[in-house]
Amino acid sequence: MGQQVRCGQGETQQLGIIGFPLGHTLSPLVHNWGFSKFGLDAVYTAWPTPPEDLESMVERIRSEPIAGLSVTIPHKTAIIPFLDSITGLAHAVGAVNTVFWRDGKLWGDNTDVAGFAKPLAVRDVRSGSALVLGAGGAALAVIVGLQELGIGPLYLANRTDEKAEELAAHFDINFIPWAERGRCRTRILVNTTPIGMAGKFEGLSPWNKYDFEKGQLAYDIVYNPGETRFLREAQSLGVNVIMGVEMFLYQALEQFRIWTGRDLPVDETRRLLEQALYGT
Ligand code: ATR
Repeated sequence: MGQQVRCGQGETQQLGIIGFPLGHTLSPLVHNWGFSKFGLDAVYTAWPTPPEDLESMVERIRSEPIAGLSVTIPHKTAIIPFLDSITGLAHAVGAVNTVFWRDGKLWGDNTDVAGFAKPLAVRDVRSGSALVLGAGGAALAVIVGLQELGIGPLYLANRTDEKAEELAAHFDINFIPWAERGRCRTRILVNTTPIGMAGKFEGLSPWNKYDFEKGQLAYDIVYNPGETRFLREAQSLGVNVIMGVEMFLYQALEQFRIWTGRDLPVDETRRLLEQALYGT
């Protein structure tokens, strides 16, 4: 039976990330570094898991000393029926990114919400309007995170308008047609699309530079490259920014806390990530 990772359990606890295709992930780096920092007998591995193997993977958790999982695309929603329970946050988002044991039950939680919200909270941003760009999986945790902080009114725009309309109705927020997003003036702007990400979208921005306004806050959840065109242009106009690495950092710290009950040092973990990502 699985349990929380503690010192001296006598049996090496396994943890890992499941997704498909998994590609490069920074999660093993952060969690294995954390385990060695606290002297915990645990190891975190990347487990590429195609959709047809998801159910047997969850069965493995129940029969082996597996203390937890990170869950990524395409399993975040599909895993829910195989778990014993999910937290209110995971329910609100409709997706699980963290699996853990509590009192003999296998739980699902969503630390993307705290990962997104924490960088705003530490800057004391808890009010004002926000426009979310994109209506894919990542937008769900972002919208719940903004609502948890009490930020509003919220607006949603997406390339495929119908998708934004549907999601906006689900969360009872405002729909903005993609073509009119530049006219939506809000205190906070959040990019949840892959535009700007390394690869085919690098060097692109989901926002016209001339539509930024002083006093705004631009938040990109893309973390590679660290400074996307969206953030670079925002900064050049004196707009405050939050980089995507912040969201990755805080969702990982929250996962580590759930699995081990320990808090990793924020600045040291950020430096570890920045070194791995940008070599700085
Ligand atoms: P998901 O999160 O569902 O896996 P994604 O491919 O990461 O999907 O895309 C996330 C969001 O970014 C989607 O809402 C997508 O818009 P569509 O609903 O129109 O597909 C948006 N997106 C992806 N590529 C885009 C682009 N080139 N321009 C504008 N929006 C884009």
